[in-house]
Amino acid sequence: QIHDLEKVFLDKIEEEIKIEPRDWMPDAYRKNLVRQISQHAHSEIVGMLPEGNWISRAPSLKRKAILIAKVQDEAGHGLYLYSAAETLGTSREETINDLHSGKAKYSSIFNYPTTSWADMGAIGWLVDGAAIINQVMLCRTSYGPYARAMVRICREESFHQRQGFEILLVLSRGTAEQKAMCQDAINRWWWPSLMMFGPRDGESTHSDQSMKWKIKRMSNDELRQKFIDMIAEQVKVLGMTLPDPDLKWNESRQHYDFGEIDWNEFWNVVKGNGPCNKQRIEARKNAWDEGAWVREAAAAYANKKKLKTNN
Ligand code: ACO
Repeated sequence: QIHDLEKVFLDKIEEEIKIEPRDWMPDAYRKNLVRQISQHAHSEIVGMLPEGNWISRAPSLKRKAILIAKVQDEAGHGLYLYSAAETLGTSREETINDLHSGKAKYSSIFNYPTTSWADMGAIGWLVDGAAIINQVMLCRTSYGPYARAMVRICREESFHQRQGFEILLVLSRGTAEQKAMCQDAINRWWWPSLMMFGPRDGESTHSDQSMKWKIKRMSNDELRQKFIDMIAEQVKVLGMTLPDPDLKWNESRQHYDFGEIDWNEFWNVVKGNGPCNKQRIEARKNAWDEGAWVREAAAAYANKKKLKTNN
C-alpha cells in the first residue's frame, strides 16, 4: 500500500502538482523539508541582528525608516517560514529550541559583523541579492506552503536589494572617504555572500535527493554562477571592483570565471566558530527569554476568551 501512495506522490512531483500538508509524503521528504525550511526561517530571524545594529545610527531619518521597514520584513519572512514548517507537523517551540541549542543551522552569512554604514548597502545588494537568486527557484519548489511563502518573500527581497544598491550608489558618488567605505564593504561581504549558496555540488549532502524531489530546482554551483554573472556586471555601475583577481569573463563558457572560495572559512563558520556566532545565538536566547511574559499574557488571554465562549 505504501508503494501505491509513493507512486501517487512521485507522479505529482513528475507532473509539477504541489504536495500539500495533508497529502501522503515519504518520511525523508518531510524531514528534509523541515530541515531546510526551519533553517531558512532561522536565517531570516538571525539576519535581523546585523542590520538591527545600525537602526539607531542610520545617517538620516529617511534611511532609518527604510531600514526599520526592511528589518521588519525579515521578521515577517521568518514567521511565514516557521508557519510553513508547522504544516509539516513540527511545533514552533521545537524548531526554536533547535536554534538555541545549536542543533539547527542558519545561514553562515549572518555571523559576520557590520562595522560601517556601507555594510547596510552591501548586505542589501549582495546578501539579499544572493537570497533572491536562491529563492526565485524556490517559488517552484514542490511543497505548496513553502512555494507560496516564497512568492511574497521574493517581492520584498527585490525591494531590499534595490535599497542596498542605492545606498552604495550614493556612497560611490560621494567623497573619497565614502568611496573607500563602499569598496571596503564590498571587499568584506563578497566572499561570504558566495558561501551562502552552500558547498560545491560534489560536497552537497542533500542536493541529489532534493533535486529528485524538486525541493531544489537548481544546484548550489549553478546558482552561485548565476549570482556572480549578475554582480560582476552591476559592480561596474558603482565604479567599484570585486576582490577577486581571477574574476574574468569566459567567452567560451559565456560565464565569469572566478577564484577559489576559502572552504575552510566556510565550514569553520558553519560549525559555530565565525566572528559573531556566539553573539548571535546569545541575542536570540535573550530575546526569547525577555519575550516570555508576552507569550504568557497571550496564552492567559486566549484561555480567558475560551472560558467566556464556553459559558
Ligand atoms: N550556511 C550555513 N549552513 C549551510 C550553508 C550556509 N551558507 N550552506 C549549506 N549549509 C549546510 C546545510 O544546511 C547542510 O547542513 P545540514 O545537513 O546540517 O542541514 C550542509 O551545509 C550541506 O549543504 P547542502 O547539502 O548543500 O544543503 P542544502 O541542500 O540544504 O543546500 C541551501 C543549502 C542552498 C542553503 C538550501 O538549504 C536552501 O536553498 N535553503 C533555503 C534558502 C535559505 O536558507 N537562505 C538563507 C539565507 S537568505 C536570507 O535569510 C535573507
